[in-house]
Amino acid sequence: MPNASTGLTTTQAPFIEEAKSRGELYIEQPYDLYSEDNQDTWRRLYARILPRWEMYAHPKFLEGVKKLALPPDHVPRLPDVNKFLEPLSGFSAKAVSGYVPAFMFFDCLRERAFPTTITIRDGARLDYLPEPDIFHDVAGHVPMHTDRMFADVLVRFGEVAHTAAHLAAEIRDIEVREQKLESVIKAMARFFWFTIEFGLMRRPGGDRQDVCVYGSGLLSSFGEIENCIENDRVQRFPFQLEWVVNQYFEIHHYQPLLFVVDSFEQLFEQIDMLEDWMRHGKLGNVSPGEPGVSKEDVRSFIDAASKDHAGV
Ligand SMILES: [Fe+2]
Repeated sequence: MPNASTGLTTTQAPFIEEAKSRGELYIEQPYDLYSEDNQDTWRRLYARILPRWEMYAHPKFLEGVKKLALPPDHVPRLPDVNKFLEPLSGFSAKAVSGYVPAFMFFDCLRERAFPTTITIRDGARLDYLPEPDIFHDVAGHVPMHTDRMFADVLVRFGEVAHTAAHLAAEIRDIEVREQKLESVIKAMARFFWFTIEFGLMRRPGGDRQDVCVYGSGLLSSFGEIENCIENDRVQRFPFQLEWVVNQYFEIHHYQPLLFVVDSFEQLFEQIDMLEDWMRHGKLGNVSPGEPGVSKEDVRSFIDAASKDHAGV
C-alpha cells in the first residue's frame, strides 16, 4: 500500500504512479491519502480566490459553486460533488490517474463524464501551474457543468471528435490521414483552450465592455482571474473562429490574448460551425505551433474510428 504520509501532492503521489504503472487510467479517489498539508492547500486556495470569483466570475459559475456545496475547508469528495451535479446536467466528475489521450477525453465529455485530476498542487506554490490539479478541475471546471447549456457545449465537443475520427477514416493515404488529423486535433484543442479553459463572456445584462470569466484556467488562478479583466495590456477580442483555430498559445505565463463570446448560445453555435468547417476540410492545414499533438493523440482518433463503424 502507498504510504499515506506522502499525500496526494501533484508530482509526488506514489498512489498515482502505481496506478499508472498498472495502466489504470480511471481510478477511485483514495480520500484517506490526502495529507493535512493537502487539506490546508485546498483551504488556502479556496479562501483567497472566493472574493475574486464574486468579482469576476460568470454568474452561472457562482450559482454552480452554491449548487455543488463545494466545501471551503477540505478537498471535495467526488461522490459528494456528483450527488449534486448529476441531477442538474447529467454530468459527473470521474477520477483519472493522469493524461487522457485527446479522443478519449472528448469522448468522455460526450458521455457526460469529466476526467478529473485528484492530486493537489504543492502548498508551497499556490499559483498557476501548467498541469491540472483537483483545484483546477473541481473548483475551476465543475461548477460550470451545473449549467445545462454549458454542459451541452461540452457534449458537442465529444460529438465533433467523433466526426473528426470518421472523416479521417475515409482518407486512404495513411500519411495524409495523420497530417490532417493532427491539424484537426490542434484546431479543436485551440478552440477548447480559448473557450472552456480561458474564455471570457459579455456579462449578462452588462454593456459591451463589461466582461466576466467562464474559462476554468482563469477561474482557478488567483492572479490571472484579476489580470485578465483589470490589466489593459491583455488583448480581448470578440470570438472569431478563423482566428481561434489558427492561434497558438503558451501555457507558462498569463495569456496576452483572450476571446469574448456574447453568450453560451453563441458558444454552442461556434462549435456547430467548427464541425461544419471540419466537414468541409477547412481545418486540415491550420497554422503550426502550440499546442503539440502527440502521436498518441492522433492514434486515439484512428483507433476510435476503426472500433466504431457507424456513419458520419
Ligand atoms: Fe482544464
